[in-house]
Amino acid sequence: MYNEIDLDIIDINSEPPAEEPGRQYYFMAKCRRYVKAESERLGRPLTAAVVTFGCQMNARDSEKLAGILEEIGYVRTDTEDADLVIYNTCTVRENANNKVYGRLGGLQHRKKKNPHMRIALCGCMMQEPSVVEKIRESYRFVDLIFGTHNIYKFAELLDAAGDSDSMVTDIWEEGRQIVEELPSDRKYSFKSGVNIMYGCNNFCSYCIVPYVRGRERSREPDDIIREIRRLAADGVVEIMLLGQNVNSYGKNLKDPLSFAALLEKIEQIEGIGRIRFMTSHPKDLSDELIGVMQRSEKICRHLHLPLQSGSSRILKKMNRRYDKAHYLALVDKLRAAMPDLALTTDIIVGFPGETEEDFMETMDVVRKARFDSAFTFLYSKRTGTPAAVMEEQIPQEIAKERFDRLLREVQKIAAEKSAALTGLTLPVLAEQINEQDQSLLTGRLGNNSVVHFPGTADMIGKIWDVELAECRGFYYLGRRKDGLS
Ligand code: 5AD
Ligand code: SF4
Repeated sequence: MYNEIDLDIIDINSEPPAEEPGRQYYFMAKCRRYVKAESERLGRPLTAAVVTFGCQMNARDSEKLAGILEEIGYVRTDTEDADLVIYNTCTVRENANNKVYGRLGGLQHRKKKNPHMRIALCGCMMQEPSVVEKIRESYRFVDLIFGTHNIYKFAELLDAAGDSDSMVTDIWEEGRQIVEELPSDRKYSFKSGVNIMYGCNNFCSYCIVPYVRGRERSREPDDIIREIRRLAADGVVEIMLLGQNVNSYGKNLKDPLSFAALLEKIEQIEGIGRIRFMTSHPKDLSDELIGVMQRSEKICRHLHLPLQSGSSRILKKMNRRYDKAHYLALVDKLRAAMPDLALTTDIIVGFPGETEEDFMETMDVVRKARFDSAFTFLYSKRTGTPAAVMEEQIPQEIAKERFDRLLREVQKIAAEKSAALTGLTLPVLAEQINEQDQSLLTGRLGNNSVVHFPGTADMIGKIWDVELAECRGFYYLGRRKDGLS
């Protein structure tokens, strides 16, 4: 994390330093000068909107972008009629790309009215050469494009875009270094994501992530611990450790350290009340990790363990490197160790070659594992991945029909699982005032379920004991039990 640096004492008339993060502080100082001059000229502050598509990794990256923008002097806004709009994009499924193209049309319209407006695009979608080509050809009003590996250079790139009349593009194929000590503007004051690693080495055959996020790189444990200590000192009580495959954390460090051992270190940090993590790959989930979770006071009893398919045949084609029996055995082991564990998952329907029998295997795992919730996806063909060129792509109507059946089953089980907690008193982190009813707070259980309960704004950011008086499908109405848990 970033300690306040006085940007105003940086001499921006000298050459920029070569070393990071000093180089970025220099460009932040330079951009700050520009923003100040523009604001004076216009007689109003300059505004910036960061729009996030996709997963928690992107959400965390967006906090870093917002932190840099804030340092530079932009005032944050949620509306896209801002002076600077940046889209942090996702490309995991085709519809994620389509959403971005759709919204870019609207931005073009706004830019016509405000020619000073600057538009930047970054994130996973920009790592695809075909996307960049299309934007260069058909969306020429975009000012800046960069990717996932050089996000820390945002200030430097903004400065370059300011000096240039044409589109500035900077995409790296691989991550070169992990740059620490940059600002970030957290969405919540009391909870935060913490990247522990970047990239993925698994190459599941349907997935574009390894191509757009690069090879797996773990952060040094000392850097992670330092960041979390600072977050705790800043009032954060809940952290979410982020990585595409957290169970293989630390394998390529100079001094290798397992994910379970990292968790044990993090557990010692005072002030942090809840530790979450995602995502776990079933092939790498160790007994050591189950033991650490079982003993921990702080690690939430929630595990997101993507199944993807229940058919061993399809799992093999997906290159997942586990089979149905292994997954179910893992679920049994986890439930035996932690009967109160909430288990959630991701499932893809309609992978090439999936037969009705394969699909029934998925339904069978869903019934046996009894997931507390599941994200279900229609298979989406991603150019460049091995699955995209597999024969027997499944017709959309068949996939959709299976998807609907799966969703009904998943929702039925999820509702039964939620109902089973009714009447219990459990700790809830109060997160915000309820949007519909101002006398209520909305918070989350350790298992991530939502609870609405009576309370006031001063209770936000703390953990309270709440009786789950009534279950309404996927959320609870709670009754307060006084006292901090
Ligand atoms: N099609 C559909 N779903 C996908 N996912 C990843 N790639 C694809 C794809 N090509 C899903 C997986 C993963 C989640 C983040 O997105 O289930 O776990
Ligand atoms: Fe994609 Fe598989 Fe890596 Fe997850 S583990 S990001 S699904 S390649």
